[in-house]
Amino acid sequence: MTAKKPVFVCQECGGQQQKWLGRCPDCGAWNSLVEEQAAPQMAPVNHRYGLVAGGSPAKLYADIEISHTPRVPSGINEFDRVLGGGVVPGALVLLGGEPGIGKSTLLLQVAAHVARTVGPVLYSSGEESEHQIKLRGERLAVGRAPLYLLAETCLERILEEIERLKPALVVVDSIQTIFSARFQSAPGSIGQVREVATHLLFAAKGRNIPIVIVGHVTKDGSLAGPKALEHVVDTVLYFEGERHHAHRVVRAFKNRFGAASELGVFEMTATGLCEVPNPSQLFLAERSIGKPGSAVLCCIEGSRPILVEVQALVSSSTFGNARRMTSGIDQQRLALLLAVLEKRAGLHMLGDDVYVNVAGGMNVDEPAADLGVVAAVASSVRNRAVGSSTAVFGEVGLGGEVRAIPQPALRVREAARMGFERCVLPSANVDLPPSERPPQLELIGVRTIDEALEALLA
Ligand code: TYD
Ligand code: MG
Repeated sequence: MTAKKPVFVCQECGGQQQKWLGRCPDCGAWNSLVEEQAAPQMAPVNHRYGLVAGGSPAKLYADIEISHTPRVPSGINEFDRVLGGGVVPGALVLLGGEPGIGKSTLLLQVAAHVARTVGPVLYSSGEESEHQIKLRGERLAVGRAPLYLLAETCLERILEEIERLKPALVVVDSIQTIFSARFQSAPGSIGQVREVATHLLFAAKGRNIPIVIVGHVTKDGSLAGPKALEHVVDTVLYFEGERHHAHRVVRAFKNRFGAASELGVFEMTATGLCEVPNPSQLFLAERSIGKPGSAVLCCIEGSRPILVEVQALVSSSTFGNARRMTSGIDQQRLALLLAVLEKRAGLHMLGDDVYVNVAGGMNVDEPAADLGVVAAVASSVRNRAVGSSTAVFGEVGLGGEVRAIPQPALRVREAARMGFERCVLPSANVDLPPSERPPQLELIGVRTIDEALEALLA
């Protein structure tokens, strides 16, 4: 009998090598190869293409019947919204986020609610004991519900319990702590994570049970372990937010059953996560009115418009090289917008430090935010405030032109709802159908950043 050959698997990209190397030749990561046992080869079957016989034949499109399985409401509207209207039976959902951001808290709240309203729920954790989970549950007022806790790291035991309890929802806290007894490598290694995810996928699809798994993120914010994990699951959600702020954002990154980039907003309180049904109000709550360097922009996250305040501070640099710092928007994008402002609007900031911040810890990566950033920076340079009842949005091109952006009607409506009276927007977007035009809102279409600054800072 020949000894089984080990393989060396890169923990960053999943590439396999025959021998250990200091650097992965596929992705270039250093010291990322770990020894794992090669997966057992499938026994060849006497079949024309060497595969297992007996699968079902291809079906005609017209013969397939549509079955509408109702989604399971999780009882937390913001969470349902991110998922596209509730948990789909048989879906495998991955929830990623930094440690301590509130993943376990949210899922325990969801688990408790589903247990109260739908049926038994299995909450299995490889990170905390049943006692610890219960302590947390007391703060969250879980109460009496068929919620089963399992402190377990062995996948086969979890699958057994799923078989026994036939739950309406399963939560697996942190895939990085679970291992399969049939696979010989450490929990959290790429092979284990992939193996465990695949078995959970079979369990979810086979029994039509939704399974939510928690995934850790690495230092750079991507999900720890393989990118392959994101391909296996149906939905990937990310928990965002600053630990020092009370509010948290859950964002759909991939969703086979709903819109991607949909967003749910929560606030962390002493009794767990509370929903924030009106995020614009939250993000504008502490706005500095009448001060230079602030502009309100309207961005769209998924299907929902949100007003946020962008703040800029331009001050002369005391050290040789000027600093450009951002929080909530892309630094490269700011560099581009500053160059456009210098060249096309004659604002000189070469020797100045520029700080830009989206208030409240939101991340805005839409091009529609450009005009808001430009307005805030120009307002700080000229030391003149943008009107407090003016909202602004539009994409800025390299020629200083203001370009059209999608869904202007939705943004304009949100601005009107929040009591704004003026809206500066791309002239290509200004002709809204009369039915979508809020009567009390003045719409000012602009073609260039010069026109925009004229309208905003006159
Ligand atoms: P947790 O859900 O344990 O984070 P994760 O599972 O993502 O690592 O969240 C822990 C944080 O939440 C911790 O810092 C305390 C805080 N918290 C509250 O503020 N209120 C609460 O009711 C609970 C349960 C936690
Ligand atoms: Mg946790």
